[in-house]
This record gives sequence, C-alpha cells and structure tokens, in this order.
Amino acid sequence: MNFEHSHLICFSPTHSSHVIGETILQGLGLEQIAETDLTYEKPEEEILLCNTVTVIVVPVYGGRVPGIALERMEGIRGEQSPVIPVVVYGNRDYDDALLELRDWCVAHGLVPVAAAAFIGEHSYSREDRPIAAGRPDETDLQQAREFGRQVFDRLKLVGQETKPLYVKGNYPYKTIGPKTPQTPLMVSERCSQCGFCIEICPVQAIRLDEEIVSNAETCIKCCACVKQCPQGARLFETPYTDILFKNFSNRRDPDLFF
Ligand SMILES: Cc1cc2nc3c(=O)[nH]c(=O)nc-3n(C[C@H](O)[C@H](O)[C@H](O)COP(=O)(O)O)c2cc1C
Repeated sequence: MNFEHSHLICFSPTHSSHVIGETILQGLGLEQIAETDLTYEKPEEEILLCNTVTVIVVPVYGGRVPGIALERMEGIRGEQSPVIPVVVYGNRDYDDALLELRDWCVAHGLVPVAAAAFIGEHSYSREDRPIAAGRPDETDLQQAREFGRQVFDRLKLVGQETKPLYVKGNYPYKTIGPKTPQTPLMVSERCSQCGFCIEICPVQAIRLDEEIVSNAETCIKCCACVKQCPQGARLFETPYTDILFKNFSNRRDPDLFF
C-alpha cells in the first residue's frame, strides 16, 4: 500500500516525547505531516485516521500510559490504518506502557506496524542528581530517524501481516500507585508572577491569587512548570529523585519492535 501522509499525535509536558515523535516522522519521510498535540487540551472533534501513517507518542508514568493522555485520546479512531506506538521513559523502565499503548491502538482501529521505547530526561532529574539528563541527545535522535526509515520500508507489508506486533510488557498491566501528595512548590523570592507556569500546565492546576498557587489534587507531577520556569522559581522535592539517581543512572538504549 502507498501512504503519502503522516500524522503525529503526542502528549508531552516536558517535550521529549514530542521531539522523538517529530524525529521518527522526519526519518519516515512522508510529505504531509499533521499534528495533534494533546498536551494542553482534548481535541474538540473526533479524529478519524485513514490512509495515513500515524505516530502516537506518550511518556511513561508509573510504568503505564498517563491516564490524562488516554482521556485526551478518547475521540481518536482509525480505519485499519498503520500506527507506530512509541513511549518515552526516564531511564528506569517502561514496564507495560508500550503494551498498553499498542493494545489501545488495536482497540481503536489502528494497525501497529512497528513500536519503540525511547529515553527522555526524567521529569524528576535535577542538576545535582541527573537522571538521563539532556536526553534525547544526538545519538537518540539519530536512532529515532533511522527507526523512521526502517518503518518506511515496512509500510509495503501493511495488510499482509497476520500476527499482532510483539512488544515488551505483561498482563495484567502494572497497578497504578496511589497519588503522591507533593505538588511543585514555588520558591517565592525568585517568582516574578509572570504566569508562564499557568500557561504551560497541561491540567490547569496553577492559578494566580494573591500569589501563584498549585492545586495538589489536579497536579499530575509532570514538572513542566519546574523545568520551564524562566526564573527557576519552582521546585518539586520528591524522594524518587534520590532513588532514581542512585539506581537508574546507567545509560539505557531504545528498544525497537518490528
Ligand atoms: C508522574 C511520573 C511518573 C513517571 N514514571 C516513570 C516510570 O515509571 N519509568 C520511567 O523510566 N520514567 C518515568 N517518568 C519519567 C518520564 O517518563 C520521562 O521524564 C519522559 O521523558 C517525560 O516525557 P515528556 O518530556 O514528553 O513529558 C515519570 C514521570 C512522571 C512525571
């Protein structure tokens, strides 16, 4: 089958999933690229994917696809068109997230032709305790581009494969842990109340009252506000930073499935 169009669908509060998805599509090299970014809102209308090659890319949260990403993907369907499910994780593990994303694709009328797990800087990485800091780096991006090229070669097999694409993961999926109570805190003396954190929060958990306040119930701990505050005024202290730094600092490489 011949495909001319590609579509990028992503959820990516700290942008690594977005960069990986874009780079895979560059490697794929199809002409017309549409993009649906689910990071800030759910699409108003349903999206029907046909005669197009779609890359769906999301981060791994607790070994799973983030619940908020699944909510925002609700209105997306395919007409047996090819999809490349991709997860991006912070160098610990992706557990069952890729399997969950692959299953979601199949249940929504898409046909997985290849899949991948790439590595992005961990949301809880800090300057003094780096976890996959600076990733995806040039090596990751080369691998993502090459992966896209390899996927292109396999598109001609779409419709011929009979067995479902294998990806790593187990049933039942990893249990989702209880919500941790911490919320990114403002370091008030540096905060200029510019409101940038309000704009970039994927779940509208931040507002300006007398000062900037965060809603602990709504916050998904993605750390978009911590990493992107122009003043470096936001802080999220979690015991996971130490644990991850001590145990998951060795570089991991992407896993590719065809
Ligand atoms: C709530 C939460 C849970 C996470 N769980 C995992 C995990 O289970 N394994 C892992 O390796 N990284 C985990 N991460 C790290 C992210 O997967 C990683 O930072 C990813 O690059 C973020 O993607 P983004 O830049 O597209 O937002 C988690 C991050 C957050 C915020």
